[in-house]
Amino acid sequence: MAGSGERRCQQPLDDCLHAAVQVALEAGQIIRDALTIEKRVQTKSSAADLVTETDELVENLIISTLTKKFPSHRFIGEESVAAGEKCILTDDPTWIIDPIDGTCNFVHGAPVVAVSIGLSVNKELELGVIYSCVERKLYTGRKGHGAFCNGQKLQASKQTDISKALILTELGSIREPVAVKMLFNNMERLLKVQAHGIRIIGSAALDLCHVATGDVEAFYQFGLHCWDMAAAAVIVREAGGIMMDTAGGPLDLMSRRVVAAGTPEMAGQIARELQPVAYERDDGIEGAEDSLPQ
Ligand code: IPD
Ligand code: CA
Repeated sequence: MAGSGERRCQQPLDDCLHAAVQVALEAGQIIRDALTIEKRVQTKSSAADLVTETDELVENLIISTLTKKFPSHRFIGEESVAAGEKCILTDDPTWIIDPIDGTCNFVHGAPVVAVSIGLSVNKELELGVIYSCVERKLYTGRKGHGAFCNGQKLQASKQTDISKALILTELGSIREPVAVKMLFNNMERLLKVQAHGIRIIGSAALDLCHVATGDVEAFYQFGLHCWDMAAAAVIVREAGGIMMDTAGGPLDLMSRRVVAAGTPEMAGQIARELQPVAYERDDGIEGAEDSLPQ
């Protein structure tokens, strides 16, 4: 039962999951159709932080569709935040949306792109839907009910030894030399402890789906956003995996950093190797740097 001050979701979560799946499939069709045609590309926070008219179209479609069904719900969407909306998570049911995860891939016509829709209630992530639109793989997760890909139950890797790990990461969109050096420094540290390999595919949400399927042992990144990992957090956890802060504590969705793995032992070993790369939090709340390891 929701305590005082907590918000209930008035609609059954099954209805929310169904609605998110329907709109993700619809959005996926739009993205597939637009993948190989010419796009109007603009930059946001850096020359490598891209947005197209399709990102905006899809985000508007998702928000308007879900608003009609759930008028009291709130939204945090990548492109709405880029347009100046606040990125603050409250206890209200809040949809956290990345209309196209892998926008840089999308701009180039590379087929590694996904729609990501998560739902938080009382600041707890309750469900996640990620649609890898070109592969037509639909990943879903609902807290306490498991994670699935096209209806098949997912189980993350049970590997605990970093020297037997295939690890995914992403470069983010910051190109400042110090941050870039840190990214490569972290890869070097993981290779020095004999990880089998490190791969970069260009979509943090799909990286996390690969952790959930057990295709890879782990994923980590500094500089991603809450909309890159909200839906995936439910899918990874429901597949038996763990989402951890890079400093070793519980995941903070607004912190712009994560280690995900099939086992806590694997996540812990990776977290211990990583040197922090500081990014401004999504919610703009100062002081997060204090918890970074020195
Ligand atoms: C980005 C992708 C990219 C990751 C960035 C994300 P976007 O999301 O997941 O792989 O490195 O940190 O923000 O811009 O394609 O939605
Ligand atoms: Ca995006």
